[in-house]
Amino acid sequence: APPLKIGIAGLGTVGAGVVRMLARRKDEIAARTGRAVEVVAVSARDPSRNRDCDLSGLRWFDDAVALAGDPEIDVFVELIGGHEGVAKAAVEVAIAAGHTVVTANKALLAHHGVTLASAAEAKGVGIRFEAAVAGGIPVIKTLREALLGNRIARVSGILNGTCNYILTRMRDEGLSFESCLDQAQKLGYAEADPTFDVDGFDTAHKLSLLAALAFGVQPDPDAIHVEGIRSITLADLEAADELGYRIKLLGVAARTESTVELRVHPTMVPKHWPIAQVSGVTNAVAIDGDAVALTLVGPGAGSDATASAVVGDICDLASGSSGTPFGWRAETLRPAGKAAIQRH
Ligand code: HSE
Repeated sequence: APPLKIGIAGLGTVGAGVVRMLARRKDEIAARTGRAVEVVAVSARDPSRNRDCDLSGLRWFDDAVALAGDPEIDVFVELIGGHEGVAKAAVEVAIAAGHTVVTANKALLAHHGVTLASAAEAKGVGIRFEAAVAGGIPVIKTLREALLGNRIARVSGILNGTCNYILTRMRDEGLSFESCLDQAQKLGYAEADPTFDVDGFDTAHKLSLLAALAFGVQPDPDAIHVEGIRSITLADLEAADELGYRIKLLGVAARTESTVELRVHPTMVPKHWPIAQVSGVTNAVAIDGDAVALTLVGPGAGSDATASAVVGDICDLASGSSGTPFGWRAETLRPAGKAAIQRH
């Protein structure tokens, strides 16, 4: 087969990691999928920045939208981020041009997943987003493919590495919220605007995608009760500790008789529960199916972990598997309900 030609928009922490990983695994990927994978074009705001990866011989685009529509590419990899503006326009153009999209953009799919999935299905192209939820943990594939034989009752977990890193370091080392957040930003874990992390919106975006996959509901961040970790103090963490708990920011999606309830908030988790022991930037997702209940634990953010998910998606495309974006036909997705909970 001819090489699978990749265009990558966005060469930040994740984009540069993808270029490095595809180069490092080049021969193995070709041998395993039966098809060479070649990055042929890229776009980024600052072409001169040192990214510690080999970009020689690639075509450069100033404009991600122009790259998205380029007839030379087969797959458009969107690593720009943000749910409006360039990322959205570029993904729409890529789909219209008949390119399959690989993206790490949870905000975009949370807000526009139904429209984009409908467009992609109409064009017969895929949208793959393993990297959008829980970084290196293969939870999308698990829900969309591996557990398809299950009726799922509940999906819950730690979905934001930055918040878990902050809560862990505050408690373990007595550090301030601000210094932990600062460190998470320096390590490349936090969103460009860390409000999305600490106020729970990033967790909500990811939860809405897991709910779509698990329950066939439309991704919709507005259907989620959201509360972040900004108000959690060291005294709260210590008091929880004395009572035998850890405070974790959890996202929970649970099937009820008539709908799916979705909520994100700091939660007291008994210390001896496995999820209480998940520390630092690590994420965890617990899935309760009628045949299989399991918990996946792994790195939730960072260059290598996220690149691993993007490269996995690209390799699936090289071997010819695509499927529907949410594992359900877009037209069958129904609305999710807000959790009817009262707190405080
Ligand atoms: N800011 C996100 C996090 C990155 O901290 O989990 C991965 O989506």
